[in-house]
Amino acid sequence: MLVSAGLVPGYLRAQSALLRGNGATSFSFQAPASKEALRELVTQNADFFIRNHFGTPQISADSWSLEVNGLVSTPLKLSYADLVLMPSVRRPFTMECAGNVAGGIGVGNAAWSGVPLAELLKQAGPRSGATTVVFHGADSGDGEGVPPNTHFARAIPLERAMDASTLLAYEMNDSPLPADHGFPLRAFVPGWYGMDSVKWLARIEIMGQPFQGYFQQKQYMAIRDNGERRPITRMLVNSKFLRPSEGEEIPVKTYRVEGVAWAGERKIAKVEFRVGPVGTWQTATIAASSAAMTWTPWSYDWHIPGSGKYTLDVRATDDEGHTQPDARDPDRQDAYEFNTPHRITVTARS
Ligand code: MTE
Repeated sequence: MLVSAGLVPGYLRAQSALLRGNGATSFSFQAPASKEALRELVTQNADFFIRNHFGTPQISADSWSLEVNGLVSTPLKLSYADLVLMPSVRRPFTMECAGNVAGGIGVGNAAWSGVPLAELLKQAGPRSGATTVVFHGADSGDGEGVPPNTHFARAIPLERAMDASTLLAYEMNDSPLPADHGFPLRAFVPGWYGMDSVKWLARIEIMGQPFQGYFQQKQYMAIRDNGERRPITRMLVNSKFLRPSEGEEIPVKTYRVEGVAWAGERKIAKVEFRVGPVGTWQTATIAASSAAMTWTPWSYDWHIPGSGKYTLDVRATDDEGHTQPDARDPDRQDAYEFNTPHRITVTARS
């Protein structure tokens, strides 16, 4: 599939993980039996998926600067030092690639630190008629059939850019951004699919009309058989198992099944588990800390009746009542927004 071609898992580290730092939960995991399992509530930087359209540019913080220009009263040019000396915030946010598949590796959750974009936009002063904020990345090339010398750029509405949650992030889990994740600075648009969180940010351009860039117009579109096109923006409700993992052998006993669920800008209202493919959905326990924009841990104590092979399904519902659909819309021609239930098969042995 086109979009997952560049999804690279870091090496998958086996470890128990606690969501630390924001007092959110004391939910913990055992060390996974399989290295394929990504079972961390906070995804370590080395384990966080990487999705690049082009190569990773190597940028020196000393020579780098960020320009904010276009339809503004006061164009800005800021150095790395200017940015890190501004008042900052640190927030746990989940990022999911628009091309992630059910149970896929294209989703992670980290603590991101940086400057609220609204602070810079207020300093620059959008002029009347401003509607659109374009993030221009420093990476370019002609891979994946893109026109020669295209650079990666994406736009969001000014209103979303002014939301207090939209960040210019320079730290990931309390370390400077790794090169692959956008050093020295990336946009972070929490609750929207990952393509808008532009890495290696070079320029922020304020415009009064829709942005015509290649990655805005030709990619990241939901396309239906009847020709309807809709831009991909907000993340849909989704969930996955962390424990057990696909193919795992587990003992016959009461087994605590664990996982995470997320719904972009909305909160998780319910998570359901079933022994499939046609069992009855059972309500799982979700963490009391459930919040928008960061994933919510869930668990279910499954009383395994006996040895055998089992199919397990999980699905979530957000606080606006959207539940993960049983099946993908058959009219969809694109490869984005997969959010059918995550299904795994495990073997129980006594
Ligand atoms: N920013 C730039 N400059 N170039 C890119 O190719 N990929 C986007 C987004 N920002 C991309 C980018 C996509 S499609 C995703 S899903 C996220 O970055 C992935 O971020 P990560 O590699 O840090 O996980």
